[in-house]
Amino acid sequence: MPIMPARSVSPHAMPAERLAALLRRMPKAELHIHIEGALEPELIFRLAERNGLPLAWPSVEALRAAYAFTDLQSFLDLYYAGAGVLRTEQDFFDLAWSYLERAAAEQVLHAEIFFDPQTHTARGVPFEAVITGLEHACRRAHAEFGLSARLILCFLRHLSEEEAFATLEQALPHRHHFIGVGLDSSERGHPPAKFARVFARCRALGLHVVAHAGEEGPAAYVAEALDLLGAERIDHGVRCVEDPALVQRLARARVPLTVCPLSNARLRVFPTLAAHNLPALLDAGLVVTVNSDDPAYFGGYLNRNFVEIFAALPQLDARHAYRLARNSFEASFAPAADQARWIARLDAVFAEAGVPV
Ligand code: ADE
Ligand code: ZN
Repeated sequence: MPIMPARSVSPHAMPAERLAALLRRMPKAELHIHIEGALEPELIFRLAERNGLPLAWPSVEALRAAYAFTDLQSFLDLYYAGAGVLRTEQDFFDLAWSYLERAAAEQVLHAEIFFDPQTHTARGVPFEAVITGLEHACRRAHAEFGLSARLILCFLRHLSEEEAFATLEQALPHRHHFIGVGLDSSERGHPPAKFARVFARCRALGLHVVAHAGEEGPAAYVAEALDLLGAERIDHGVRCVEDPALVQRLARARVPLTVCPLSNARLRVFPTLAAHNLPALLDAGLVVTVNSDDPAYFGGYLNRNFVEIFAALPQLDARHAYRLARNSFEASFAPAADQARWIARLDAVFAEAGVPV
């Protein structure tokens, strides 16, 4: 028998099944989840019936079959249609609770949850019903699971600056129920510059600021989000690689990117998961996190995002898993003492698995 040369095995390399189990078991935070994107087809049908609303699809299966997206807008059209069944405070509670139960089961210790009030107030739903239902679910998740959950109000960028200001006014009596503001919806043709004055007001109110940029839009929108909105985190941001100076700036300033692998593949930001630039973003020293975006529409919640992107990109190993989980806590808006406690739990899980960090 030929003598094989000794191969040095990295302590971070492990069988795929063991790595997947570690990804599921490790404590993590989720920083980019649209609560309306957690609306499962079964709940859409249940709420439509409860609220006496007609639906354009004959069955849950027919609705799920319609989830064949070609780009961001083709998704948003269905996402806004689905959200039309949300009418009452109880509906918003049920939606958030369904997400939070799953998140707790996936070892999510902290979630910063986006909501789109304009989608609902445009249909005559009171702002108060939206935020009160969501907030009650967050409070209960903390009491029942110890899961810390916070809300981030997103402005819809396809609407006007004036409408964003009006939404902010409606939100102010509920200021203590959300920690920050974001910017989402159709990116192309709606640059961050359009909302510079609204975000200046939000910053003056002491709100945290994040913005979707560089998902379908160009790297220049990422720079605008930093310069004109004061964004502390960039949601998606994957197209930053088109501007190497911007990548250096993001790395140096430690501006986190909340990356959403399954979303990017389903909306064709990348042709396949294997073509995703997550490894390049990590290699560039960026503070990358993994998130689910709209899990009910893109085929998976947070753990599925982790397991699938690691399966598609074999160069990702246990060391990357640790880095991504640790980044998720450090990129959060949670108090430093909470972050330190969660990171200690993360360290304990890796120590127990025998993985040096
Ligand atoms: N709203 C919900 N999901 C979104 C996404 N991926 N990009 C922009 N707006 C969104
Ligand atoms: Zn998003």
